[in-house]
Amino acid sequence: MPRHRLGVITDGAFNAGLTARLDPGCSTEGLRIGDFVVVEGAENMYFSMISDLQLRASDPNLLADPPRDASPFIRRALTGTSTYATVQIKPMLMMPKGDELTFLDELGGPQPVRTIPMHFATLCEADEADFGTVFGHEGGKNFAIGTPLTMDLPVCLALDRFVERSTGIFGQSGTGKSMLARVLLSGIIRTGAAVNLIFDMHNEYAFDVQSEEGTWVQGLRQLFGSRVLVYSLDREAASRTGRNVDAILRIGQNQIETEDVLLLAEELDLSSTARANVGLLEDTFGAEWLHQLLSMGPVDLEAFCRERNAHQGSMEALQRKLREILRRDYVMERAPTDAINAMVAALDQGKHIVLQFGRHNQLLDYMLVANIVTRHIRNQYRKKVEKYEETKDAGDRPRPLVITIEEAHKFLNPAAARQTTFGSIARELRKFMVTLMVIDQRPSGIDSEVMSQLGTRVSGKLTEESDIEAVLTGVSGRGFLRSAIESLNTRGEVLLLGHAVPMPIQVRSRRYDETFYQAVGGQPEPARRDYQQDLKDLFG
Ligand SMILES: Nc1ncnc2c1ncn2[C@@H]1O[C@H](COP(=O)(O)OP(=O)(O)OP(=O)(O)O)[C@@H](O)[C@H]1O
Ligand SMILES: [Mg+2]
Repeated sequence: MPRHRLGVITDGAFNAGLTARLDPGCSTEGLRIGDFVVVEGAENMYFSMISDLQLRASDPNLLADPPRDASPFIRRALTGTSTYATVQIKPMLMMPKGDELTFLDELGGPQPVRTIPMHFATLCEADEADFGTVFGHEGGKNFAIGTPLTMDLPVCLALDRFVERSTGIFGQSGTGKSMLARVLLSGIIRTGAAVNLIFDMHNEYAFDVQSEEGTWVQGLRQLFGSRVLVYSLDREAASRTGRNVDAILRIGQNQIETEDVLLLAEELDLSSTARANVGLLEDTFGAEWLHQLLSMGPVDLEAFCRERNAHQGSMEALQRKLREILRRDYVMERAPTDAINAMVAALDQGKHIVLQFGRHNQLLDYMLVANIVTRHIRNQYRKKVEKYEETKDAGDRPRPLVITIEEAHKFLNPAAARQTTFGSIARELRKFMVTLMVIDQRPSGIDSEVMSQLGTRVSGKLTEESDIEAVLTGVSGRGFLRSAIESLNTRGEVLLLGHAVPMPIQVRSRRYDETFYQAVGGQPEPARRDYQQDLKDLFG
């Protein structure tokens, strides 16, 4: 079936994009910035996006003296003769015309644009087949993430590519980031593209929560049963009916490194002197620095400061602030060391982990624990990857791991990104098979080097110029993508761009609802006994 025609190409330049004149019957009101359209050239098809819409008149006199209250009849009479509309389009991908299947097989899909069509090539609406050609069909690791804004057909994300590099989900509060994260995480679990570790600051991913629309939405544990393990920092969480957690996580004082404390500089209100003191303590005592500092009485502390030429007042303040951290009931002098190793063992078996914070949901707890756990897990992954490189045995290949963090700018702002494990993971790409999925309302707070390394970016509506700029760091053709982000609805619409999609596209996010639960194979919650068995298998 021929595509629905919109107009013809009248002007253009390779760099600036193409201009098409809309057919008289075609209204600008039926088109949106960011719409996916196709230009049919003589030899190629160009998969493109609408980047601008303009109104024009061929007779300047008409604009100097526009008809007063033009009736629909007069307007129609003028349209296409004296007045007309043009569309700016940006070709993103091209493909030779002809038997699509052969070309797809031979070329492996549409190619980057290398040329432009001639005058009067036709501009058409993209149809279902075009979406399939460009974004692929559901199945395998291709997962439907939403629908085009104006059509009802699935737009797929290649999840195996998605997990290959770190990714970001951005948007103002209430745009649907957490909902879309649930959809993506479910997709990753369902397709087995990776294993997940989710730092769940607001206790919203494991069990059901009420949406802003008032309905209850399922948690991942409820959706996937024992494939998802729930850890908690909060002892009380273990006894909640219907929301049982599998294990309580404890952190040992000996696991807290200087990096963790420096990350908390803002939360603990540490001065630059305090930071220098942390370095001094580490130089002096190595891994035992924290234990040593905390066990110093006033006399020892004074002697230490005198000897090492450190400012005593600020050393005392540091000691006081760190004692405050250690009063948290999840911190023990020495945690059973294998708590985090058990997590890694579970991930190895293909389990997914949600770590809840329960009552300990202050940023300080979140950052401290997430950083410690991530550092240990990444070190383990590094060893696994090194072993795999030696043996080259497929059985030694670690499963790719995706670590999800909210409030990502706290871990990845320019100062923190240089020091923390999260910063290294984001920068080193997928070398150790660990990538991040960062969720944030204010991408401008994230280090620009980290932003430029993000493979796939999913952005809901943003209005701050600096946030939009940040999302588009390192992307070409920023101008119209900026308009595409600005023109999104405030809820449930996103722009997808990057590694896991062949070209940028705006989509209405897939609804996270009953239909979705059915589609991802929502098994009913198995009896509690099964978890116990699983845990026994895992932890002996
Ligand atoms: N894909 C979706 N499926 C179902 N409901 C959605 C979806 N996207 C958005 N919503 C609705 O929008 C509300 C806000 O979404 P969500 O909680 O994901 O926002 P958010 O971007 O995470 O906000 P915040 O930054 O404040 O955490 C939801 O409670 C729900 O009612
Ligand atoms: Mg949220």
